[in-house]
Amino acid sequence: MNLILLGPPGAGKGTQAKRLEERHGIAQISTGDMLRAEVKSGSEIGRQAKAIMESGALVPDAIITAMLASRVSQPDCARGFILDGFPRTTPQAEALDVMLRDKGLQLDHVIELKVDDAALVERIAGRFTCAQCGTGYHDSFKPTSRPGVCDSCGGTEFVRRADDKAETVAARLEAYHRQTAPLLPYYKAQGKLSQVDGMASMDEVGRQIEAILQA
Ligand code: AP5
Repeated sequence: MNLILLGPPGAGKGTQAKRLEERHGIAQISTGDMLRAEVKSGSEIGRQAKAIMESGALVPDAIITAMLASRVSQPDCARGFILDGFPRTTPQAEALDVMLRDKGLQLDHVIELKVDDAALVERIAGRFTCAQCGTGYHDSFKPTSRPGVCDSCGGTEFVRRADDKAETVAARLEAYHRQTAPLLPYYKAQGKLSQVDGMASMDEVGRQIEAILQA
């Protein structure tokens, strides 16, 4: 099963992709996480991407599509994958169509998480992750069970993303509406698009996604 989760920054793509990965044994592919790993390692891609990401703009299509092509060829994608944060532009969507065709694969569903812009700023501003194992939390919506201690690994160090500042979030939202939202009619025309209410609770969003997969 090959899926795309589409939605603005903070819509819950990463949250739901992780749940789908655990439930269905298919690989989560987050281009944002891949880029952050490149930045951390100090690679050439990371050097090119760092300032762009911190401004809230999109990294050039050529870098992203090359990165994605090599990722979907890895063994953990053999049972399928969930694309989280890709494609984000029409050229990326077209490159994906070619990539899948060449590999004899198909896209099963494109699921849009619909969320009001106003809610996104609150979601993003409250987000933090465990520095040790990467488990994601939120100050209000998903706090750790014990203050300051990761539920998954017991770690006590947490990090917040460099691009989660209010002014950068506004630029990321603008990039979404201008460059990524046009993919909604693109996938509707292919008969692949479904929508879920991303304003609902995490569990309810998960249930709505499962209903689409089982329909
Ligand atoms: P990326 O890392 O993909 O960020 P994004 O799309 O902006 O999405 P986020 O990770 O911020 O949000 P999310 O939808 O995953 O929400 P989450 O589940 O964390 O991209 C970062 C940057 O990399 C881009 O700006 C760009 O520069 C570059 N980039 C990446 N891919 C690219 C590409 N293809 N092309 C070009 N450039 C690219 O949830 C957010 C918070 O809300 C969490 O705290 C969570 O706990 C909480 N939450 C989730 N669901 C709910 C709910 N239902 N109710 C209440 N709270 C919820």
